[in-house]
Amino acid sequence: MSEKVYLYPVWIRLWHWFNAILCLLLIVTGVSMQYSDPAFPMIRFDWAVSIHDISGIILAINYILFTIGNLTTSNGKHYIFRKKILKNLIVQARFYAFGIFKGEDPPFPITEKSKFNPLQKFSYIVIMHAITPIVIISGIMLFFPELISFDIFGSGALHITDILHVIMGFIISIFLVVHIYFCTIGRTPVSNFKSMFTGFHEKH
Ligand code: HEM
Repeated sequence: MSEKVYLYPVWIRLWHWFNAILCLLLIVTGVSMQYSDPAFPMIRFDWAVSIHDISGIILAINYILFTIGNLTTSNGKHYIFRKKILKNLIVQARFYAFGIFKGEDPPFPITEKSKFNPLQKFSYIVIMHAITPIVIISGIMLFFPELISFDIFGSGALHITDILHVIMGFIISIFLVVHIYFCTIGRTPVSNFKSMFTGFHEKH
């Protein structure tokens, strides 16, 4: 039997799976609106707009709840950079590139006090504290285009906001692929996915 540690309280699991489903809906409808041929859309354009808008609003509310949860519980401590960030990131990257194939032990064992390794911590902080807020704020601005009908340095603010929104959407899509890949590196390829349902992380 592997040793287990309780890392994901119910509210984090609920937040996470809502967030994951909403992000997938937003990515699929966003890609459909941006790239499909209007004559043969991937998803009917008016449906894609409605699903994208509704999912975006629910995701923004879910994000506010996540922020309140992190501010009011001990989960927030995992979303703060500590000392030696760069050095720790290099040690973890070296482990993923070489050490893991030589059977070395993880350099930063997962504990209740420190539930993310440095690469997880860095990517989660950037995605949750920078990219997601930008995608939400730019999404709200695109919801009220009349508020941004002015020019910035000769280009329309609406156009710039749109480009920013799409770039952030792409970053989240790339994060998602990398995130799911790294989640397969657990005690078994599925144990980290199970932990996001049960709350218990299985140690190596
Ligand atoms: C189908 C999509 C997804 C799957 C299967 C998935 C899977 C997982 C798993 C297994 C974990 C627990 C292991 C770990 O901490 O690394 C996790 C944690 C996490 N995921 Fe995801 N994820 C998905 C989508 C997303 C998205 C879209 C985001 C953000 C935009 C995200 C952000 C996070 C964060 C911040 C945590 C840590 C939560 C905490 O404990 O405080 N995930 N995910």
